[in-house]
Amino acid sequence: MNRVAENLLHTKLDHAAIRSDFPILARQARHGKNLIYLDNAATTLKPRQVLDAVYDHYAYGASNIHRGVHYLSEEATRLYEGARETVRDFINARETKEIIFTSGTTFAINLVAKSWGRKNISAGDEIVITHMEHHANIVPWQMLREETGCILNIAPINDRGELDMAALESLITPRTKLVSVVYTSNSLGTINPVRDIIRLAKKHGSAVLLDAAQTVAHTKVDVQNLDCDFLVFSGHKLFATSGVGVLYGKRAILEGMPPFMGGGDMIKSVTFEKTTYADLPARLEAGTPAIGGAIGLAAAIGYVRNIGFDSIAAQEKDLLTYATGLVSDIPGLRIIGTAAEKAAILSFIVDGVHPHDMGSLLDAEGVAVRAGHHCTQPLMTRFKIPATTRASFSFYNTRADVDALVAAIKKAIEVFA
Ligand code: ALA
Repeated sequence: MNRVAENLLHTKLDHAAIRSDFPILARQARHGKNLIYLDNAATTLKPRQVLDAVYDHYAYGASNIHRGVHYLSEEATRLYEGARETVRDFINARETKEIIFTSGTTFAINLVAKSWGRKNISAGDEIVITHMEHHANIVPWQMLREETGCILNIAPINDRGELDMAALESLITPRTKLVSVVYTSNSLGTINPVRDIIRLAKKHGSAVLLDAAQTVAHTKVDVQNLDCDFLVFSGHKLFATSGVGVLYGKRAILEGMPPFMGGGDMIKSVTFEKTTYADLPARLEAGTPAIGGAIGLAAAIGYVRNIGFDSIAAQEKDLLTYATGLVSDIPGLRIIGTAAEKAAILSFIVDGVHPHDMGSLLDAEGVAVRAGHHCTQPLMTRFKIPATTRASFSFYNTRADVDALVAAIKKAIEVFA
């Protein structure tokens, strides 16, 4: 039985058809090896449907938005604002005013810190984050701490990489103004119990920000159902291009946020004496945005919806279970991140092989993974390791990709034996 047929036994996805949507999967990697792409947590691949939407905009519809009176500008504006509606519907926000396009997750968190944070956080106020945060959800709050004298509390995790919920609960008090947590850890794969976290935060009147960068490509997110105050994600981890991302915020909260950047498109009127600002969402989107990026993001959302999160989750769960079983049999290999609720991310270290060397040796076999601290240095310190090698899966990966990964790991270990 060939590999494609074998995969059909495990999931409902038509892998041959899906993989043919991703032109990059047909190319070769180093030494003419077939590309085995397992770096989806760093960025996902882009299907033809997204590439075509972006290409069509730049080839036939390139124009700036909101400003022009001509046909192309009106068309680009319609597509850009249509993309906002697609995002709204995708995460079930109440209205498009709650969707702010940003350049990505990092910008979105910085926007909250520098606008909402500066206005609402003062000396002695507390912000709670966790030990598994990406630097993008640590550094902006440290910068705010420098400015305001607020306190940053860190919720600990256990050796499996799960949040210590009792400790988290004890850190959330009436002094807590914000609980800012990662929904799905990029280094460990841990899926945090965000509903419980939001419930604890609300009990004390704290706002909640969810970093959903590693979530939105894998599971349905419903911001009304979650009742989070902010949710952020990047387009490039959702099969769209880099340079576009989303800040969702509840309307009443966004309306209270002063602009973080001033410039074109965010004003009502400007004189040298006084400027008045535009309404949401323009007020928080100064300058020409990533128009083609937003159009591509809408196409990516359409693509994901067409496949369906049930099928995506089933495939990714199968890959994680299959890969975990196989690597667990490799002597000297330790998985970092073994949470009960876990996304399809496999971080590991191997006795006597530096994670970067492992990454390079896997690359020599055509297997693309990430090696390093994954922008989570405090997490690496927590596990007393400098780095991990990380394979991260998406729905277009197959068991054959896992077999190639495992064979390459074994070959790498032999080099160091
Ligand atoms: N945050 C991305 C990753 O985990 C870049 O690789």
